[in-house]
Amino acid sequence: MTRHLLRDDDLSPAEQAEILDLAVQVKADRWGRRPLEGPQTVAVIFDKSSTRTRVSFAVGIADLGGSPLIISTANSQLGGKETPSDTARVLERMVSAIVWRTYGQAGLEEMAAGTTVPVVNALSDDFHPCQLLADLLTIREHKGRLAGLTVAFVGDGADNMVHSYLLAGATAGMHVRIGFPTEYAPYPRVVADAERIAGTTGGSVRLTNDPAEAIAGADVVVTDTWVSMGREDEKAVRIEALSPYQVTPELMATAAADALFLHCLPADRGYEVAPEVIDGPQSVIWDEAENRLHAQKALLIWLLEHA
Ligand code: CP
Ligand code: NVA
Repeated sequence: MTRHLLRDDDLSPAEQAEILDLAVQVKADRWGRRPLEGPQTVAVIFDKSSTRTRVSFAVGIADLGGSPLIISTANSQLGGKETPSDTARVLERMVSAIVWRTYGQAGLEEMAAGTTVPVVNALSDDFHPCQLLADLLTIREHKGRLAGLTVAFVGDGADNMVHSYLLAGATAGMHVRIGFPTEYAPYPRVVADAERIAGTTGGSVRLTNDPAEAIAGADVVVTDTWVSMGREDEKAVRIEALSPYQVTPELMATAAADALFLHCLPADRGYEVAPEVIDGPQSVIWDEAENRLHAQKALLIWLLEHA
């Protein structure tokens, strides 16, 4: 049966670990695996802006011997005249996989249900699972393990990165803490799914409205923009509500002494994070950005092997 990555818990703990192990191998031998030689084509569709996702998929598909076909929704029939499932029925006749950055999760589910080729969520309003594979790879490189580590996300709790940290962190056996203001809380059904997964992996989930409680003693500190794509109209009200959740040097100092700082980027320095933190010695954001390439290549290899 065709496998897709629409949300982080589409991968079991063993499958997530397998893909991360593969990512280590492809990073060490960048041009050693060519499963897309032919070249086979992978469609990469964008409803929203992107730098990292666009470049890492284009370069990664080429590294694997394939041909990336980058499509802007604005110049296609998708989102206007044509449904995700009809688009998928057409694309599957010509491409080996479909990667899609979009708004609603339902469109991704419709596309995956209607096609025989793997569909990858390259960010939706709800999840960013490709970013989490890169983040977990980065944490593993710097800490040597994932299970048992405490990761604290502070900021917009209703963010796609939070939902992905809840699911992927729990899958990896991590202790996931989220610090957020009441009005920007994670989706309860995703929290429940993460708690269920954590119960099987030895991880845990803790929610708090106190950023200091979230970060105290954490091994990894994470934040993300307060104004995600599509929420630009809410900027002023969000900044007001989220200001107490900035990752400041003082807050970072309460994490473990060797804590890492991660941010998926793009960042708004002076809002969700102080420049001294994101540009400081504990920040691993450039490794994290590079690891999009290696993690997604491993994901594509794995999906094509399981197609
Ligand atoms: N982190 C991330 O997905 O970046 P882009 O929006 O530039 O793709
Ligand atoms: N939460 C951000 C992530 C950007 C990569 C957004 O959705 O805009």
